[in-house]
Amino acid sequence: MSDVTRKRIAVLISGRGSNLPSLLGNELGGDIVVIGSNKAEAKGLDIARDAGIANFVISHKDFASREAFDAALVAALNEYRPDLVVLAGFMRITTPVFTQAFASRLINIHPSLLPSFPGLHTHARALEEGVKLHGCTVHFVTPELDRGPIIAQAAVQVDDDDTPDTLAAKVLRQEHQIFPYAVRLFCEDRLHVDGLRVTTLPKSIHPVIATGAARV
Ligand code: GAR
Repeated sequence: MSDVTRKRIAVLISGRGSNLPSLLGNELGGDIVVIGSNKAEAKGLDIARDAGIANFVISHKDFASREAFDAALVAALNEYRPDLVVLAGFMRITTPVFTQAFASRLINIHPSLLPSFPGLHTHARALEEGVKLHGCTVHFVTPELDRGPIIAQAAVQVDDDDTPDTLAAKVLRQEHQIFPYAVRLFCEDRLHVDGLRVTTLPKSIHPVIATGAARV
């Protein structure tokens, strides 16, 4: 029998999908029901196939506009009735067609301590700016690029001998920790959003429901 309290999670990727094993390997309080990609060659699709998870590819190159691509993506995802859509290295700028379809149930992981370094090449830019702390962020997606209520962040120290690659590797290790944690908080209905601020509610204590009790 299916557990109606468990969330249905859809994941979108564009590349190697190194975040997938951490999502698949941790108790999320929900089930990943589909993994989609805008690139047929995305290595992460192999992880989906190996795990026996439904998957699909919709290439952005087949559409004349961002909006048309986003509409097709929304339709494909809706077939799986997701409660939550997770962007795990999905490298597309989305339009309101997409963000509004999944408003308040769309989260993204970004390789910087937002609001610093939105966009691409975050590790190289962090080194150029000389920051001493860098990291990653899981946030709710809003129409504004790489901005939205922050659910979780993890910081790493920037060492003198770091390169973009070594920094990326350090940050990625943290991504794999905070992403399943953030997804689980969502699945447990523990995130309260007030403007850009997210607070974490305590785990709910479900009352024990007596069955077969005498009626008075
Ligand atoms: C991750 O570092 C993720 O934070 C980043 O792409 C990488 C994908 O890695 N996402 C973004 O830059 C989104 N703006 P993965 O394919 O190994 O999970």
